[in-house]
Amino acid sequence: MTYDQSNTLREIRNYLKWLRRLGFEIWLNRDEGSHVPAQALGELATTENGDAIVETKVQRLQKLSEQVAACRRCQIGHTRTNPVFGVGNPNADLVFIGEAPGANEDAQGVPFVGAAGNLLTQELRKHGISREEVYICNILKCRPPNNRDPFPDEILNCEPYLKQQLSIIAPKMLCGLGRFAVGTLLKRPIPIMKLRGTWESYEGIPLFICLHPAAVLHQPQNRHFFEIDIAALAEAYHARHTRLPKSK
Ligand code: URA
Repeated sequence: MTYDQSNTLREIRNYLKWLRRLGFEIWLNRDEGSHVPAQALGELATTENGDAIVETKVQRLQKLSEQVAACRRCQIGHTRTNPVFGVGNPNADLVFIGEAPGANEDAQGVPFVGAAGNLLTQELRKHGISREEVYICNILKCRPPNNRDPFPDEILNCEPYLKQQLSIIAPKMLCGLGRFAVGTLLKRPIPIMKLRGTWESYEGIPLFICLHPAAVLHQPQNRHFFEIDIAALAEAYHARHTRLPKSK
């Protein structure tokens, strides 16, 4: 292959990756298109005047994020600076779920961008996983003042948004970060040091239990466990096309 050909190939590959990130998932011959049910291309929705349209994942996530931005069901909807909906690939096979935005996330409207987020990003990169290919979000979309624990009614109000996010993205696996997030997803208190590195399930999706990177920053003696867990998660992620983790 000549230098020019390999450059062109690289450009095509990057273009396709970019389209996929935008939510284009299925490629059809022009002639085949009319035989394919609309649902195969996205989700059917209706416009205000009743016309059926097909919405891509990107559009559905955008709509949901607008609902979240307008949500004032809890007091923290009034005190937060920005809603923190979630970021990443709408087609991600792996979704990370944290507890709630902190100060940096609240300021930027993006999850896991402070020191804890940097640790997570760095550890994933070591195993060949980029932030852009996965999806990252929290159970709560608004920051509780002074990083207090979420109140039960806040979880009750916000968890439906998470469930809708997951049903749009349809990932193959989840990673719950920290005792609080995992306990909330599993609806029971969990001994994180005992369960870390194991699989449960949430909404029928395998859920990997991992220490929270912020907890690791506070207790550096646990860093080793965090590294082991991300390595195990990365292994399951890289093998996802041939086998999925067994979850409870
Ligand atoms: N901790 C979380 O649980 N989520 C964030 O987005 C940041 C820190």
